[in-house]
Amino acid sequence: MIVEHEVAPLRETILMRRSRGESVAFVPTMGNLHAGHLDLVRVAGERGDSVVVSIYVNPLQFGENEDLDSYPRTLEADSAALGDLDVDIIFLPDDRTMYPAGLEEQTKVMVPELSETLCGRFRPGHFVGVTTVVNRLFNIVQPDIAVFGKKDYQQLTIIRRMVRDLAMPVGVVGVDTIREADGLAMSSRNRYLTPKQRAVAPGLHKTLREARDALRRNETDTVGVEAQGYRKLSDLGFSPDYFSVRRQSDLAAPGPEDESLVILAAARLGQARLIDNVEVELGRRKEAMN
Ligand code: PAF
Repeated sequence: MIVEHEVAPLRETILMRRSRGESVAFVPTMGNLHAGHLDLVRVAGERGDSVVVSIYVNPLQFGENEDLDSYPRTLEADSAALGDLDVDIIFLPDDRTMYPAGLEEQTKVMVPELSETLCGRFRPGHFVGVTTVVNRLFNIVQPDIAVFGKKDYQQLTIIRRMVRDLAMPVGVVGVDTIREADGLAMSSRNRYLTPKQRAVAPGLHKTLREARDALRRNETDTVGVEAQGYRKLSDLGFSPDYFSVRRQSDLAAPGPEDESLVILAAARLGQARLIDNVEVELGRRKEAMN
């Protein structure tokens, strides 16, 4: 496993692999790796010959009052975990390497509308930070494919759109969320939960599953399903930001003909802001035709 900190030597290392005919699969992360990240690395290993993992806590995607300073940095444990897997190169840039002209001067990449809905409403500027850093990482690594978790469903949708709109030659692969035994989606931010809050936290996924079941039972009033989900989360002790039923393809509000939906929620529990989602396939048209 090779560790690179700078752009030029990283490119040289990757070029050498490419000249041997190897394809490159890339997993961008902010470190503090858990089983969810390791699953992304596993998928990258299945899809590409060389696996590159980046670890960079991107200041551009944190709001003023967010947890940039306290975000867990666990490089030693992360390197050990990646050492046990099929990882060829770890890229560990610092702020100077990622933003040589500084954060203010950095050229930004913005996917309009998609970046402003759902989490974008509550974390202004967050997705511009994500698309800007992912764009720069893609240009540095030049991967054939890049792997992202579906837990950050909006992020994944925005990155797919960026890649499409900017004609970037990168295949974006989405991987299912890895969960704790009680259903809580794995996340670096789960560590902010107190034991009492940790016991409540699986209620987020349970509420999403219940909403999915309601839609599957042919509940067509999506606004009612959203309101019920929001209320249930509040009753459980969460402070919900949103509970929303959307179209999978573009996260727009679904019409009666839409079959591939996703229910997304974000809710605060003490210091932790948890996000999760479940996909729903309705097959409405097929049922109507039978
Ligand atoms: O999902 C994350 O960990 C981050 O948003 C990403 C994609 C690594 C960009 O900083």
